[in-house]
Amino acid sequence: MQQARATLGKYTWVKTIARACRAAVATLRKKAKQFKGGLEFLALRYLMQVPSQNVRHVILRKCFGLLIDPTSVIYMGTEIRSPSRIRIGANSSIGHNCVLDGRGGLEIGKCVNLSSEVMLWTMQHNPQSPVFDVKVAAIVVEDYAWLSARAIILPGVTIGEGAVVAAGAVVTKPVEPYVIVAGIPAHPIGERPRNLSYRLGTDDSIWFV
Ligand SMILES: CC(C)(COP(=O)(O)OP(=O)(O)OC[C@H]1O[C@@H](n2cnc3c(N)ncnc32)[C@H](O)[C@@H]1OP(=O)(O)O)[C@@H](O)C(=O)NCCC(=O)NCCS
Repeated sequence: MQQARATLGKYTWVKTIARACRAAVATLRKKAKQFKGGLEFLALRYLMQVPSQNVRHVILRKCFGLLIDPTSVIYMGTEIRSPSRIRIGANSSIGHNCVLDGRGGLEIGKCVNLSSEVMLWTMQHNPQSPVFDVKVAAIVVEDYAWLSARAIILPGVTIGEGAVVAAGAVVTKPVEPYVIVAGIPAHPIGERPRNLSYRLGTDDSIWFV
């Protein structure tokens, strides 16, 4: 037994090297993931400045895995994260300079309107966590919802069918269908009729913006 221990003791340097190698591989993997994420971010930034909706949408679908119906439009300047986790239904319109964060999963229905600079965030940090943990939760925007300019939607929120979020509102909780909300935090200020029948997207957009 003693002899076996002595033999093992001789090889502690092997264990130390093995541990160091494992740590190096883990760091390299993390760096490679960050590098890939950085490249995707940069590529999407440049892509969203290309003045052609068709070019942008084809590349978003084929190269980045974003599921967007051909009748919907994403206008220039929008920031897209984790596009392969985003789905956009028919006849919807995503305005200029919005943020679509797919990291926690993002589903946008039919005939939805996002005005300019709307932010949909599906990831956040846990302020109570000593290590700044990350929390993700999906956002769902149902058919005919309208999110007005500069509205911010937080992780885990569902915006009900036909609901309206007023300009500059911060939505922290689910919004019931056909309700209009405003303010910070968003609260109901009115209702909307239920006979909505319009279409957005490519029907009323100009191809180069
Ligand atoms: C959502 C919106 C359409 C609501 O319009 P509305 O139903 O006519 O509402 P009202 O103007 O009657 O306002 C009702 C109440 O909500 C308040 N309110 C309206 N918009 C608000 C907002 N963005 N933030 C905070 N409060 C708001 C009003 O002050 C009013 O309060 P009061 O009853 O105490 O006076 C409008 O407020 C809005 O945000 N428009 C977006 C504009 C925009 O983004 N345009 C660009 C894309 S097209």
